[in-house]
Amino acid sequence: MTDLSSHDRILILDFGSQVTQLIARRLRESGVYCEIWPFTADAARIQLFAPKGIILSGGPASTVDEGSPRAPQVVFEMGIPVLGICYGQQTMCMQLGGRVEKSDHQEYGRAYVEVKEACALTQALWAPGAREQVWMSHGDRVAALPEGFRIVATSEGAPYAMVADDDRKFYGIQFHPEVVHTPHGAALLKNFTHAVCGCQGDWTMAAFRAEAIARIRAQVGDGKVICGLSGGVDSSVAAVLIHEAIGDQLTCIYVDHGVMRAGETEQVVATFRDRFNIKLVHRDASDLFLGQLAGVTDPELKRKTIGRLFIEVFEEEQEKIGGADFLAQGTLYPDVIESVSATGGPSVTIKSHHNVGGLPEDMRMKLVEPLRDLFKDEVRALGRELGLPEEIVGRHPFPGPGLAIRIPGEVTREKVQILQKADSIYLEEIRAAGLYDAIWQAFAVLLPVKTVGVMGDGRTYDSVCALRAVTSTDGMTADVYPFSMEFLTRVAGRIVNEVRGINRVTYDITSKPPGTIEWE
Ligand code: XMP
Repeated sequence: MTDLSSHDRILILDFGSQVTQLIARRLRESGVYCEIWPFTADAARIQLFAPKGIILSGGPASTVDEGSPRAPQVVFEMGIPVLGICYGQQTMCMQLGGRVEKSDHQEYGRAYVEVKEACALTQALWAPGAREQVWMSHGDRVAALPEGFRIVATSEGAPYAMVADDDRKFYGIQFHPEVVHTPHGAALLKNFTHAVCGCQGDWTMAAFRAEAIARIRAQVGDGKVICGLSGGVDSSVAAVLIHEAIGDQLTCIYVDHGVMRAGETEQVVATFRDRFNIKLVHRDASDLFLGQLAGVTDPELKRKTIGRLFIEVFEEEQEKIGGADFLAQGTLYPDVIESVSATGGPSVTIKSHHNVGGLPEDMRMKLVEPLRDLFKDEVRALGRELGLPEEIVGRHPFPGPGLAIRIPGEVTREKVQILQKADSIYLEEIRAAGLYDAIWQAFAVLLPVKTVGVMGDGRTYDSVCALRAVTSTDGMTADVYPFSMEFLTRVAGRIVNEVRGINRVTYDITSKPPGTIEWE
């Protein structure tokens, strides 16, 4: 956990909204450290955290219903500013003596507010009389204000779209400032944190780097650390950061399972061993993995086989170097936020995920997790701060089981080689067109289907390759990237001409849901 004593901090109490994490990201972008806790957080813990302000998030419940969530009352008794958003506004108003009602005028999506009066939240942004675009998502609305509050803005469906109690510095907004569809939302939040709460904006990656290094040294002492390196952003940034802290006490283990992308292994070795001088064990285990994958066609069995072998090989290598006291993991903040379950029920397993962090619990090493306070975009910023090359810091996510889950049916070395070639042509064209950063993930899939084609005067009977490219913010949902036909035909032409074994190319136009990003 971050040493907070030196930073201003804001506490976000989560009522289960889908977009609570966006509040935190907006705050962090303006240099404010914040944490998300469930609304059930203990009063003493909140006081100990000593935030400069508290934000109550939105949520799916209805304050009108019996037993619906409430903020701990201490929130309103600490003498610090409070901002309630949507459900947060409603529960704040209820708890302070106002009234909420179910509305017959629900508002979902884009809406407009009429700004009635000036207030600290809208300063230098919205003038009285202005009509401003916001994003609403609510059924209930505040119907009577608690004492001390006044109306700042109204909308058609919410007469109390924005309310303020200037003396206590309590603010409530019915719309969602954290989403991009509220164009001034980030600036409104910044007014809350900076102007109202007095935060300095002192959360920078340079400061984080220095503090993280000190923390790692204090935790590890003269112990030994091992880190599973995959070449992905998280494990790469974690490795370089830990190396900066403890140098040769760190050994990285890179397991090449034979289903990496073209040139990836060489790049990992060149970057970490040659450029950063990190002790790196590079184990080529491709024969083992491909041998055990022979005949395996079931997607889950493929994933499980790779996951099992990965652990076996990792343990072997770790024993060879004489073990270690600590295991480094690239755990990120979204993995550790205590979630508020909106539905209560367990979720079904769509796929059993594997990544380098998925190591067995009985390894009896202590964990070093230097990124557990960071969001993905902050990890990238830290990577740049540490001098990691852009090809690593900005790269698309790549799944732990690698190309194996992009080859439906049996995986063979020959198929892997065919796919590597098609994939690198596709990515090369995406980069050349300047589209790489606009896309969350792009890759080729080698289908277990052969089709007839004609090349020159001859008949071909070769495989089909599918191309996929999606936009996303977190991989949970995804939209198809709308390439131009001209771009797609250029890529298809190159693949069919340059990759022996592929004679047809298709483009996958399925969003997630109902599709998933990977094919298996
Ligand atoms: P799906 O295919 O479930 O993927 O829509 C969502 C995101 O997760 C990545 N992915 C994985 N990442 N280990 C990982 O580290 C895995 O086993 C794994 N499977 C899928 C996928 O590439 C996408 O970014």
